[in-house]
Amino acid sequence: MPLCKDAVQSLLKVSDQQGVKGYIFQPLRTHVNLVGYYSSPGSRVLLSAKFTTSEVLLITTDLLYTSSHTIWQLTQQLRPPKIPPPTEGDRHGRLAGKLSVSIVIFGHPVLEPFQVYVGSQWFAGTDDYIYITLIGSKGCSEKNLLDKPFYNDFERGAIDSYDVTVSEDIGDILLVKIEKHKYWYKDDWYCRHVTVKTPAGDYIEFPCYRWILNDKEIILREGKAKLAKDDKLQMLKQHRKKELEERQKLYRWKEWHPGFPQSIDAHCHSDLPHDIQFDSEKGVDFILNYTKAMENLFVNSFMHMFQSSWNDFADFERIFVRISNTISEYVMQHWKEDFMFGYQFLNGCNPVLIRKCHKIPDKFPVTNNMVECSLERNLTLEEEIEQGNIFIVDFELLDGISVNKTDPCTLQYIAAPICLLYKNLENKIVPIAIQLNQEPGVENPIFLPTDSHYDWLLAKIWVRSSDFHIHQTVSHLLRTHLLSEVFAIAMFRQLPAVHPVFKLLIPHVRFTIAINTKAREQLICECGLFDKANATGGGGHVELVLRSMKDLTYQSLCLPEAIKMREMESKEDIPYYFFRDDGLKVWEAVLGFVGDIVDIYYKDDKTVCEDTELQAFVKDVFVYGLRDNEALGFPKTLKTKEQLVEYLTLVVFTASGQHAAVNFGQYDWCSWIPNSPPTMRCPPPTKKDEVTIEYIIESLPDRGRSCWHLGAVWALSQFQDNELFLGFYPDEHFTEKSIKEVMVKFRKELEEIGSFIQERNKNKKLPYYYLSPDRIPNSIAV
Ligand SMILES: [Fe+2]
Repeated sequence: MPLCKDAVQSLLKVSDQQGVKGYIFQPLRTHVNLVGYYSSPGSRVLLSAKFTTSEVLLITTDLLYTSSHTIWQLTQQLRPPKIPPPTEGDRHGRLAGKLSVSIVIFGHPVLEPFQVYVGSQWFAGTDDYIYITLIGSKGCSEKNLLDKPFYNDFERGAIDSYDVTVSEDIGDILLVKIEKHKYWYKDDWYCRHVTVKTPAGDYIEFPCYRWILNDKEIILREGKAKLAKDDKLQMLKQHRKKELEERQKLYRWKEWHPGFPQSIDAHCHSDLPHDIQFDSEKGVDFILNYTKAMENLFVNSFMHMFQSSWNDFADFERIFVRISNTISEYVMQHWKEDFMFGYQFLNGCNPVLIRKCHKIPDKFPVTNNMVECSLERNLTLEEEIEQGNIFIVDFELLDGISVNKTDPCTLQYIAAPICLLYKNLENKIVPIAIQLNQEPGVENPIFLPTDSHYDWLLAKIWVRSSDFHIHQTVSHLLRTHLLSEVFAIAMFRQLPAVHPVFKLLIPHVRFTIAINTKAREQLICECGLFDKANATGGGGHVELVLRSMKDLTYQSLCLPEAIKMREMESKEDIPYYFFRDDGLKVWEAVLGFVGDIVDIYYKDDKTVCEDTELQAFVKDVFVYGLRDNEALGFPKTLKTKEQLVEYLTLVVFTASGQHAAVNFGQYDWCSWIPNSPPTMRCPPPTKKDEVTIEYIIESLPDRGRSCWHLGAVWALSQFQDNELFLGFYPDEHFTEKSIKEVMVKFRKELEEIGSFIQERNKNKKLPYYYLSPDRIPNSIAV
């Protein structure tokens, strides 16, 4: 093995500077720590060194003759991949960035070097005293104070390494106890994870990803996911039990409103357990964000102009021109066209209502005569229905919902329309008849494309307004936000951090309880922001959630089933339904990912049945989250692996794909206010040929309401800073290589879906990108 004398000299010299010369040849010192830059093969690599032996010197000097790529490979074996691979140029030249290589060869007494990773959140660091104790199968280490002289330990974003002396054999290291004691003032600490390196050179990861508050201690378990049945040691069983007991005290169910899915027991965001709060409460303050949005959009001058109507459609552009994007601009230009109206039922921000029509309902007496001039195949309405060319959207849920009366100066109205749609010869879905209320009669005419321009236009505007209400309250609030919170609470209450399902789900509930708590605090509460501009404000939105609870069925939340229930699955029959096509691809990818993870931990169906923690999670969702409602079809127990995979796919997809599909298109589709009015200020017309442009403008939201609406849809459509998109899990709750491989496979599949969508969208005037995985956040946080 060639020795580089220069390098040895260099090592000694640097070691000298570090003041550790006396240890260099002491056989008890078994640890070398190199930190350096690689410049070129054979040249100096070391900038500092701690302890060494002659054997280590041989190894380190050998490194000097290897290429930078070999050093990179070595570091990858030693620690999780944090350092990017060198580029081709680096292999023969300089490796950009700092390398840190730590090697333990042999020796007694045992030195357990370990690293502590501090979070990068604001105020994640601490000046408090931190003690660590290693707990092994045969005993414990001493309690070690982690403090390096002349060094500021545990700063935000730091990775700090320490040697812990263990005077006797403690067996396999199973737990790490971290204690924090106050140094000067209250100084909470966010610890990401702890890595312990054994004398044998193995790395053991202890995921934490938690705040340690006040003078508290936490005990971390080794990161390999384990089911309860796999824990044989009493110490580990106790740890699981205690963790859940503590969590159940912190995460409690509460009925925010009778009949709603239950939510977290917290009055406000600051009441929540620190671990699930937003890093900065300011960032999630709806009032602040809406106001900021209105300022950024230069519309804040209108924010107090309630009762002040716009002059005409062009006048709406006064608040629009500065903020248009490709889609919103297209909407502004084409919103009056029937094609654009129909398209939104497939690919707008609420693409979940349209269904195939098999029979014209009695309450909607559309006749062949009425629509024959819209039908292009020389068939009767009945024949078109038989051929599957007729679709329907029924807003029955809105019938009788209380209107917003919070502003006595503004009367507001809600309708409950039914809309019949037709797939024309170009395979475009267009509206052919609209009735604005449920009860048929002379005062509830069926509007047709052949009616006067303004009659037909206003009828479509009413449908768009109704769609907005259902979208916000049912598709978005109830079916994604509130539901995901149920899964989150049940997860925290019933699954210990070492459980594979906890590790799988935790990235998918990040900030969900927090955003919902903030929404209950500022948005949907009495006198909340929701009342400002929405016709369903002031309590109508609560009634709507209650009514739509009956439709919150398990089946309807599984995307493939939901599509089939509406008979919208045939790509041949119904092309251009991108929400369906992309959504099913993402669903399948999630299903595969979840299936791979389940396969690793659950050998057979019996393992699923006997997993008491998993069963408690499912039961908590059913009994408390969904209030024991059998009719919803949620399972009370899971009996097979297949059921488990579907269940978890539903949880992950609801939080990711489904929410993205209904959330991030809000600005695109709702910012052009006539296309999506949040309120209507005149009643629906009861006769034909009476509607004028003035009546339409008087019906649409006033300047103040338009402005608040715009601020809302803008703020709600923004990604978080440092958003984590589907499949990216920088918090390494799972430490096993097998799971990391499964994650890589998942990301690859998602990437392929993304490329497909990008290709499909090329040159499209209306690209559909809400379900492109690079735009789907892992969890609901806005
Ligand atoms: Fe949302």
